Amino acid sequence: MTTPREPGAGHDGAPDQTDDLFAVAWVDDPPAVRLLDQTRLPGEVHVIDCRDLATLAEAIRSLRVRGAPALGVAGAYGVVLGALTGWSPGQAAAELAAQRPTAVNLGWAAERIAARGNDPRELLAAARELDEANAVACRAMGRHGADLIGELAATPARVLTHCNTGMLACQGIGTAFGVARTLHEDGRLSHLWVDETRPLLQGARLTAYEAAALDMPHAVLADAAAGSLLGRAHVDAIVVGSDRIAANGDVANKIGTYPLAVLAARHGVPFLVVAPVSTIDPATPDGAAIPIEERAPDEVRRVLGQVDLTPAGSDAANPAFDVTPAELVTAIVTERGVIRDPDTDAVAAHLAPSTAA
Ligand code: MRU
Repeated sequence: MTTPREPGAGHDGAPDQTDDLFAVAWVDDPPAVRLLDQTRLPGEVHVIDCRDLATLAEAIRSLRVRGAPALGVAGAYGVVLGALTGWSPGQAAAELAAQRPTAVNLGWAAERIAARGNDPRELLAAARELDEANAVACRAMGRHGADLIGELAATPARVLTHCNTGMLACQGIGTAFGVARTLHEDGRLSHLWVDETRPLLQGARLTAYEAAALDMPHAVLADAAAGSLLGRAHVDAIVVGSDRIAANGDVANKIGTYPLAVLAARHGVPFLVVAPVSTIDPATPDGAAIPIEERAPDEVRRVLGQVDLTPAGSDAANPAFDVTPAELVTAIVTERGVIRDPDTDAVAAHLAPSTAA
């Protein structure tokens, strides 16, 4: 199922709408986890149906579906698929969680669904609930984050973001991207700076695709250009997502996030992390305990598997994520609200059940 199209343009050449964008869906007959293959965007809209766990596991590993919340939804439906194809829900959850070790939402969601028992119908109902809750959480994060930027920075704001944290990463409007989108809907976004996000270019390929589809004023920049923009006061706020937030507020996110936090501190610009509560992992005490996914050197040595960048004998380092210490984070925004100056106490207070009547 492939629709070739010009990058960033709809069938009539005008900016595309986002109605046809999704990350993950459940299909009943025959049972499958349906994915929009993100490795082929923006050139092709290609849908794949994963009818067994091995196909879904490969799709997760190779980033056909990616982004922490979307991985959670894929993990949830994956457990249902596993239960229908001879796996125990617990085994299916463990198999899926192992594919992307940093993104805590994947294991969190898969285990949550697996804990509901063995009846595929009940598992599916729980997975659908989780899927829908994601979209609702995204809208709430978008509102909290946009209001916080209105408080901390001049608006209309020039916002810089990294990686892809939009519909493709989350199912709903997104986390960090959802904040930019909400500002845009409010008429308070002046410009979105989109880091290209080496080596797999999620910013250039996916965030720019979504921004173009929504007619948001935006420009893609080489990751290394961020310092130049901040140095010349062209950025009012930096907004990123997260794959895992430790109990002390340290934040793992796409490689290249930590240098942005250092730049933000140097230039007095707010650095906001936007993520659902499910990304906060109380069992991980601090950033040093977050497992960092190491990916294949060829992702760095070759452009999207096609053009050699390095001599054949050169090795490459390819950590997929880095950790930003909590002290560099102005605030963490979740669907529940804002954690300012995050530390262990502030994060624990945010996670505590509300005592309000
Ligand atoms: O390797 P990816 O593309 O899955 O990494 C995605 C990110 O790092 C996102 O910033 C993160 O998952 C937050 S998405 C809302």
